[in-house]
Amino acid sequence: MLEQPVVIITGASSGIGAASARLFARSGYRVVLAARRVEKLEALDKEITVEGGEAIAISVDVGKIDAIQEMVNKTLSAYGRIDVLVNNAGFGRTKWLEELDPVTDIAAQVQVNLLGSIQSARAVLPIMIKQESGHIINVASLAGYIASPTYSVYAATKFGLRGFTDALRREVGVLGIKVSAIYPGAVKTEFASHMQAERKTGITTPEALQLTPEKVGQAILKIANGRRSKSVVIPGISRLGLWFEMLFPRLNDWIIEQTFTKPERLD
Ligand SMILES: NC(=O)c1ccc[n+]([C@@H]2O[C@H](COP(=O)([O-])OP(=O)(O)OC[C@H]3O[C@@H](n4cnc5c(N)ncnc54)[C@H](OP(=O)(O)O)[C@@H]3O)[C@@H](O)[C@H]2O)c1
Repeated sequence: MLEQPVVIITGASSGIGAASARLFARSGYRVVLAARRVEKLEALDKEITVEGGEAIAISVDVGKIDAIQEMVNKTLSAYGRIDVLVNNAGFGRTKWLEELDPVTDIAAQVQVNLLGSIQSARAVLPIMIKQESGHIINVASLAGYIASPTYSVYAATKFGLRGFTDALRREVGVLGIKVSAIYPGAVKTEFASHMQAERKTGITTPEALQLTPEKVGQAILKIANGRRSKSVVIPGISRLGLWFEMLFPRLNDWIIEQTFTKPERLD
C-alpha cells in the first residue's frame, strides 16, 4: 500500500487506547483518536503531531449508534479509507450482581463494551468490504475466558466479544478482512479507578503480572501488522489459568469460592 494506513482507535483518551495510538502513529499510521473526553484526545493529537505523526481527534460515545456512524463518516472525509479498527473503549464495574445499578452499571457495560464494539465493526465493514482489506481488532480481556465473581456483567460482555470475534472472522475472512482479539490480564490504567471495587480480602493481581498499557499497545500493533487474524492472550503465562479452567472447572469453582467469595461475602 502506497498510502499511509488509517487506524481508528476507540477509547484513545487514556490507558491502552492512548498508548496504542502513540505506537501506531510512530509506525506510520494515520490515527483517528476516538472517545468522549475530547480535551484528552486533542492533547494526544498535538503530541503525535509534534512527533511528526498524523492524527485527528473525534468525540464519540460508542454507546450511541449515530455517533459511531459519524465517527466513520468523519474518518472517511479526512482520510478516505479505514485499514484498522481497534475496538478498545470499555469499562468494568465489579460488585455483586444485586448491587449493580440496572442502568448505569449493567446496561451501560453491555452498551459500551459489547454493543459499541459490534456496532463499530458493523459501521466500518462496508468500507473494508469495498477495499477488500481491513482488520478489526477487539480488545477483550482474560475475563472473556475466565469469569470471576463480581465480574459477572463485565465477563458477559467480554465472553460476548470473544464469540462475536470468532463468528465475524468466519464471516469476512473470505472477503480479505481480518478479525482479531486480544485478551489482556490486569493492565495499569485508569480502568481500576472506574471499577468501584470493594474488597475485604484485598486480593488483586500480583504486581509482577500487571501489564503496562504500552506492552498491550505493542501487542495490538503486532496483530495489526500481521498477515493473519489472531487471538492473543497476554501475558502468555495466563494461558496456564485458561487451561486449568478448561480442564478443572469445578475445582476452580471451589478454589475461588474458598479463597475469595466466602471471605468476601460471609466473614
Ligand atoms: N486495565 C485492565 O486491567 C484491562 C484488562 C483487560 C482488558 N481491558 C480492556 O481494555 C480496554 C481499555 O481499558 P483501559 O485499561 O485502557 O482503561 P481506561 O484507561 O479507563 O480507558 C478506557 C477508555 O475507554 C473510553 N470509553 C469509556 N466509555 C466510552 C464510551 N461510552 N464511548 C467512547 N469511549 C469510551 C474512555 O474514554 P472517555 O472516558 O474519554 O470516553 C477511555 O479512553 C477496555 O475495553 C477494557 O475492558 C482492560
